[in-house]
Amino acid sequence: MPQKPIIFVTRRLPDAVTHRLTSAYEARLNEHDGVLSPDQLVTGAEGADALLVTPTDKLTAEVIGRLPKSVKMIATFSVGYEHIDLNAAKARGLPVSNTPDVLTDATADIALLLMLGAARRAYEGERAVREATWKSWSTTYMLGIHMTGKRLGIFGMGRIGQAVAKRARAFDMQIHYFNRRRLAAHLEHGAIYHASADEMLPLCDFLSINAPGGPETHHWLNTERIARLPDRAIVVNTSRGPLVDDNGLTAALKSGKLFAAGLDVFENEPNIHPGYRELPNVFLLPHLGSATVETRNAMGFKALDNLDAFFAGQELPDRVV
Ligand code: DGY
Repeated sequence: MPQKPIIFVTRRLPDAVTHRLTSAYEARLNEHDGVLSPDQLVTGAEGADALLVTPTDKLTAEVIGRLPKSVKMIATFSVGYEHIDLNAAKARGLPVSNTPDVLTDATADIALLLMLGAARRAYEGERAVREATWKSWSTTYMLGIHMTGKRLGIFGMGRIGQAVAKRARAFDMQIHYFNRRRLAAHLEHGAIYHASADEMLPLCDFLSINAPGGPETHHWLNTERIARLPDRAIVVNTSRGPLVDDNGLTAALKSGKLFAAGLDVFENEPNIHPGYRELPNVFLLPHLGSATVETRNAMGFKALDNLDAFFAGQELPDRVV
């Protein structure tokens, strides 16, 4: 029997995914599930035919340059791939695959949770109940901002942005969007396109960030752009932390320029900007966008579909480079 390809898996996988992986491959697993250093990534890859990585693995040009010759492909367990230097992968002739589509709904659901959580003061309310500081119902107690019927601006109208828009329409929200390319008319469902994100900002009672990370969008939401939003607007981010300049956002939440924010992703997560921890008007989640059993299994299976295709000599279904 021919030898099974060796896959170096950098983080622990859901059980169902590990089961399928180990029945088809010789898997080198990371049982303790710690985040691996560049040296550990390179050492662990020794003799492996492919890598199954996650967004916590920083595959810089330097790390890719040091990977052993045995490595022929990289599959990432994520839709985002800004943690992989694609130019370096391409230069080494390493195909890279990701896991689009299967996490669209779960991530859009979390965006709506953040919008409601921020607008209706879910963190403060939950804390008051738990800590018994809630004294009585009153006509003015813990008033939030109404979401139904408001204007929602979506920065990045890809799969997830469109799924956020679909959900927001159930709240009778008026949808505005910025995207590098305007959507085909049948995909807009009445959403209003803005060729300039800066011109859209003054119309956003709510702003949802759904564009990919990377150098082009680094610190896109900065103090100047926050100033363009209406006073008491609400910002949510389910994309990547570095799209937001944390100093600008924490200052705007503190001053009251923004009513609230909902954040699932952070620059340098899990070591977030300490200012967020002190602000009552930010609803925080630990990067849970795709964290459902169904979604994480589907992401793992998609990563395996790409590995299977590669080792069968077929086109990768989700090739990014
Ligand atoms: C991804 O797949 O890029 C997500 O951030 C993981 O939830």
